[in-house]
Amino acid sequence: MAVIVVGSQKGGVGKTTIATNLAAWLVLQGAETLLVDADDQASASDFSAYREETRGSTGYTLVQINGSHVRKQVESLRPKYDHIVIDTGGRDTTSQRAAMYVCDVFVTPFNPRAYDLWTVPRLADLVDEVQSMRPTPMEAYSFINRADTRSLDNRQVSDALAEYQQLKFLPHPLTNRKAFANSAAIGLAVFEMEQPDPKAVAEIEALFNEITHGSYVTTPA
Ligand SMILES: Nc1ncnc2c1ncn2[C@@H]1O[C@H](COP(=O)(O)OP(=O)(O)OP(=O)(O)O)[C@@H](O)[C@H]1O
Ligand SMILES: [Mg+2]
Repeated sequence: MAVIVVGSQKGGVGKTTIATNLAAWLVLQGAETLLVDADDQASASDFSAYREETRGSTGYTLVQINGSHVRKQVESLRPKYDHIVIDTGGRDTTSQRAAMYVCDVFVTPFNPRAYDLWTVPRLADLVDEVQSMRPTPMEAYSFINRADTRSLDNRQVSDALAEYQQLKFLPHPLTNRKAFANSAAIGLAVFEMEQPDPKAVAEIEALFNEITHGSYVTTPA
């Protein structure tokens, strides 16, 4: 059982994309899954509404929790689910901090652009601060989202991210692919599309297997 938080101090890096795909993927593995929308923009809730329209049901339970309540409520919901995925907003908010205190795993996407990378030191400091207040350490992972297929920068960005010991760098980037945006627009995970983009599916499965320690054998629909 794991509580997995997707967070960052930067907006628009792909948190909701990852959180919603992860929730759908855990459901596909047969896990009783709770998706917590802890962002007041409520994108994960919007995704879930489209998902219900497209599929009839989400497959997971969705709740919206904000602010410091995240901590207590997730603690009390924990025994009811196999996995809990928490989507947070792109700022250092009370919700995100509360989620980081209560989680087992924290994952943070970075886009390979300068503006995004400039936020790494601040996030690393936040991870340090949260770790120092937790009874037991969380696992904290970074990875690259929206990697450029043609850019040679990906290597440089990987090296830069790998320098931060607070955030274990996962060498499983997600490339900038239309499939991620197109599937989200209709409330589906990339692997749930009628004609899935095999490269997008392979990327997301490699990432999710790493995040969940390969504890699942993937069986895409
Ligand atoms: N790998 C990808 N390839 C193509 N488009 C992507 C990819 N990842 C995310 N996107 C698109 O980027 C935009 C931002 O993604 P998303 O909403 O997941 O970010 P976010 O971090 O949750 O943003 P916010 O901070 O506002 O909550 C969306 O339009 C999404 O479809
Ligand atoms: Mg979001």
